[in-house]
Amino acid sequence: MSRRIVTALGAAAVAAALWFGAGAVAEEPDGFALAVGQNGQIRVPDVDYRQSWSLLGVYVVNGDEKADGIHAVYTQPDAVTAYRETGEFPDGTVLIKELFGTETSDMTTGNISRAGKTEGWFVMVKDATGRYAGNPLWGDGWGWAYFAGDDSRTSPTKDYQAECKACHVPAKNTDWVYVEGYPVLKKK
Ligand code: HEC
Repeated sequence: MSRRIVTALGAAAVAAALWFGAGAVAEEPDGFALAVGQNGQIRVPDVDYRQSWSLLGVYVVNGDEKADGIHAVYTQPDAVTAYRETGEFPDGTVLIKELFGTETSDMTTGNISRAGKTEGWFVMVKDATGRYAGNPLWGDGWGWAYFAGDDSRTSPTKDYQAECKACHVPAKNTDWVYVEGYPVLKKK
């Protein structure tokens, strides 16, 4: 290989490392490039997850008269494949829970609620190797963040232990994830 080519390859590797950020070099799973910044900050991946990711399932918040909220949860199709094989979420799995408001009306099937406007997101990123020790968004094998309104880039979450963990304790035995609501994780 000529020296010039070697130098060009070196420059490309450096450019890739800068692009993905320190701690997320080329061999890191995609989930980190999509959802995690240089210092472990988390964002909602800028991908069309509604179309290109798997819908894990939907939780409906029941109100008195109508559904009060619809929570739709998505992940990468590869994560579903791996989970079906191993029963575990692989390193780099990103779980997006999209919060929908609801619209309720009489339809020919009955009184029906459907997804309305997006009101925010919760995101979890699987970190099987403890990359961000000491960062309060990371622990128990995941990165954790909430996003309000339509700001999918800046999370108000400061500390998952205070803001997320207690509520996920009932799901501790399934890696903190409420898998019972996600039929796609099991073959029909
Ligand atoms: C009030 C309790 C509560 C709090 C606080 C909470 N969660 Fe959850 N979370 C749940 C429950 C219950 C579910 C499943 C049912 C649902 O969506 O209502 C869930 C589901 C999720 C899901 C979908 C995957 C799964 O685990 O099933 C993500 C992602 C998530 N939460 C992330 C977070 C993050 C990040 C935080 C903190 C910023 C957080 N949650 C705080 C109770 C909570």
